[in-house]
Amino acid sequence: MSEIISVEHLAYSYPGVDDTPGVAVFEDMNLKVEEGSFVAVLGGNGCGKSTLAKHFNSILLPCGGRVMVCGMDTADEERLIAVRRNVGMVFQNPDNQIVANVVEEDVAFGPENLGISSAEIRRRVDNALRQVGMNEFAQHAPHLLSGGQKQRIAIAGIIAMEPKCIVLDEPTAMLDPRGRREVIDTVMKLNREKGITVVLITHHMDEAAKAQRVVVLHEGKVAADGTPKEVFSQVELLHSLGLAAPETVELCWELNKQGFSLPLDRLGEEECARLLYDAVKTQCPGGN
Ligand SMILES: Nc1ncnc2c1ncn2[C@@H]1O[C@H](COP(=O)(O)OP(=O)(O)OP(=O)(O)O)[C@@H](O)[C@H]1O
Ligand SMILES: [Mg+2]
Repeated sequence: MSEIISVEHLAYSYPGVDDTPGVAVFEDMNLKVEEGSFVAVLGGNGCGKSTLAKHFNSILLPCGGRVMVCGMDTADEERLIAVRRNVGMVFQNPDNQIVANVVEEDVAFGPENLGISSAEIRRRVDNALRQVGMNEFAQHAPHLLSGGQKQRIAIAGIIAMEPKCIVLDEPTAMLDPRGRREVIDTVMKLNREKGITVVLITHHMDEAAKAQRVVVLHEGKVAADGTPKEVFSQVELLHSLGLAAPETVELCWELNKQGFSLPLDRLGEEECARLLYDAVKTQCPGGN
């Protein structure tokens, strides 16, 4: 697989206002995202996740180093539209991303700005709404939808631009468990069935556990990088960064402190339950 995003020795500081000093977020950040992969990015508040994401489609430009998207330098002004066509962004608040009064018009907004023919826009809008499971709502008013449905409309608007990569910055932060599931299931399906690269920034460990790869940021650097099992079994490291492992792993870790010897890589609830059932049978006196 080739890389779709390559962050090379990235340095970035927000400029200071008046006499206040600027904020240095990255000094030498390096990260590659493989095409077609599903990567979760974790890290405490202020570690630089959103700042990094904004470099992926030229919302921010590096102060040093470079960011390459599909082989294009994001700082190359002539490639700005091409970069943004390839990398779509979904943000936290669905209300801020809705621009039209009818769902299908909202989804058409992005492709219309690309100067695409109306027949092609029609095809893309129908296709995008189907992919997020919202085609029945094409004529509805977006502001009357639930938060999860609005986020799926925002994702449809991005898909209609046919990007190779979608970057989602805490897309479920304002959603209830059902809305969260709808959004995560939608992006997983797009990754699996359409091969769209997904970069998911989240504070929810259970969402990150569904990715192929988890990258943990801390103070502008990569503090851990691996499969969910590899990263989440490093419970002490995560705690030292102010983070937690998924609840299943935290439970096993606590039980180990009480004398069990459980592996820390059972992320799913069902596999954790099976592990605990077997452990109680074999490790507790009289357990069977
Ligand atoms: N527009 C801005 N101007 C100045 N400093 C900023 C700006 N945006 C972010 N910062 C600072 O840059 C650092 C990184 O912020 P960023 O928003 O990237 O963090 P984050 O990891 O996304 O945090 P969160 O989990 O809270 O979303 C923080 O210290 C933050 O205060
Ligand atoms: Mg953020």
